[in-house]
Formats: sequence, structure tokens, C-alpha cells
Amino acid sequence: MAAEIIDGKAFAASLREKVGALAAAFEAQAGRKAGLAVVLVGEDPASQVYVGSKGKATLAANMASFEHRLPAETSAAELLALVDRLNRDPAVDGILVQLPLPGHLDEQAVIAAIDPDKDVDGFHVINAGRLAVGQRGFVPCTPLGCMMMLTDRLGDLSGLEAVVIGRSNIVGKPMAQLLLAANATVTMAHSRTKDLPDVVRRADIVVAAVGRAEMVKGDWLKPGATVIDVGINRLAPEPGAAKGRLVGDVAFEKAREVAGAITPVPGGVGPMTIAVLLRNTLVAAHRNVGIALAEDAI
Ligand code: GUN
Repeated sequence: MAAEIIDGKAFAASLREKVGALAAAFEAQAGRKAGLAVVLVGEDPASQVYVGSKGKATLAANMASFEHRLPAETSAAELLALVDRLNRDPAVDGILVQLPLPGHLDEQAVIAAIDPDKDVDGFHVINAGRLAVGQRGFVPCTPLGCMMMLTDRLGDLSGLEAVVIGRSNIVGKPMAQLLLAANATVTMAHSRTKDLPDVVRRADIVVAAVGRAEMVKGDWLKPGATVIDVGINRLAPEPGAAKGRLVGDVAFEKAREVAGAITPVPGGVGPMTIAVLLRNTLVAAHRNVGIALAEDAI
């Protein structure tokens, strides 16, 4: 039987709607909107699209959007001064500095300058540490979105075998922490893992976040496994086409014959990231002002 397709687009739309309603309630109570500041340095075309989408989604969710578009030549001192100003601005609940930054800027130093309690990306080492030790903080949006889709489908993850492929700070490592906190048995696989197909074959849950087109094959999967594909890779164009197809890290067509459920690319994990960013901003706003929010319910 073919796998259930996990509809990330619909899931994200429903989350954005829930966040929008709670943001309106926040405004009524706090007397101001929850606010998200997004900083873009330079003219990277993909980043410009992301930042535009984030701004629109923020406004649509009844929140205030503060966009700061800076030239590629912006100095470290100028960028850090802006971050400092946003840290101290009471109208700003969340700060996101779009990555990648131009080469002359030190990304880690910029992330370290963000107030951890406004770090809605969850990239600050304080938030990575909080996640690792089980304290309340902010969790990176993509893995948190993956976790929401997994628990929606599977309920309790206790004792399930989970394999995370890829060990990035933004996806793989926080994903493993979240699965561990949910009592899954977690294996982190990566480019040096031996016998990756055998490791993947024992997994009830596979999260693929390696950035290699269609690397995970259908016959690597345990029948019935839940597969979350974080990859977004563009293939070389077919003859006559201007652009190649977008594919994930999982060979989708074969995988769907074996898996129990699988996220498509596009339309799976991707749309969840911005929806979770809005969720994290809503959470930040409530914490900043001291208004209660049932955080685990959203
Ligand atoms: N660049 C691509 N994705 C992201 C993201 O989620 N956050 C930030 N800050 N930059 C990104």
C-alpha cells in the first residue's frame, strides 16, 4: 500500500491560522502587536525571496513586521549596532538575521549578539544548550516543524527507533535532541556513517537532512516507516527546461511504496518553517510581556 502523504502545506496553513488568532488575542491583551524583526544583509536572491515571504506571513498572522535590508558592504560594527538596537526595542519580540551572511561577516558572532530570549530562530548557543539540557528556550523552526508533523501522525514516540541523517546545527542536531526528549531511541547518521542503508533499515522514523538529492533509497526503509524529508535540492534541468526539478534527500517515488507516511518535496517540511517562526515569535511575545500561553498546545 502506498504511503500516506504528509501534507505540510495544509499543516502549516492550519498552524498559521492558529497563531494568527492567538496573535490577535495577544494584541487585545497587551495593547500592541507581537513583533518580528528580520535582517537581510546583501542581495542574495533566494534570501530576498525568503525575507519577503516571512514579512508577508508575519503581517497575515496579525503581527508587526520590521524589515531591515542592509547593503552587502555593511560592516560588522554596523550590523552589531542594529542587533543591539533591536535587542533593546520593546516592540520587537523576535529577531532573525537571515543566513548566509556575506563572507566578511562572522555569522556566529552575529548570532551570539542576539538576545537569546528574542532568538526565535533558536540558533544562539544558549538556546542550543537549553534544548540539550531540557530547559525552556527557543527551538530551531525546521526541526520543531518536523517534530510537530511526527507527533501529529504517530502520537507518543516513546521507544521508537529514529534515525536522523545529517548533523547540522540548524536541523540534524536539534532534531536529534527533540526526538531524544520525546523518548525515541536516536541514531545520528552522517557522511562517515558505515552501512547507512542498514542503519536506516531499523528506523521507525527517518529524518533526512543531508542536502543530497534522492540519496535515501526506497529499499533502505523499514516497511511502514515515517519519513520526513528536509532536503530541497534542485536537479539539473531536463533538455529544453529552464530550471531543474526540486527534489528531496529521499527518492520519493520508490520510498512511498515502502514507507507508512512521507513528506513530499516541495510541500512537506518547507512550508512549516515560516509557520513555526511565527509560532516562536508569538511565544516570545507572551514571555516578554508575561502573558500566559499554553505553549505545548501550539
Ligand atoms: N536561511 C535559510 N533558512 C534560514 C532560517 O531558518 N533562518 C535564518 N536566519 N536564515 C536562514
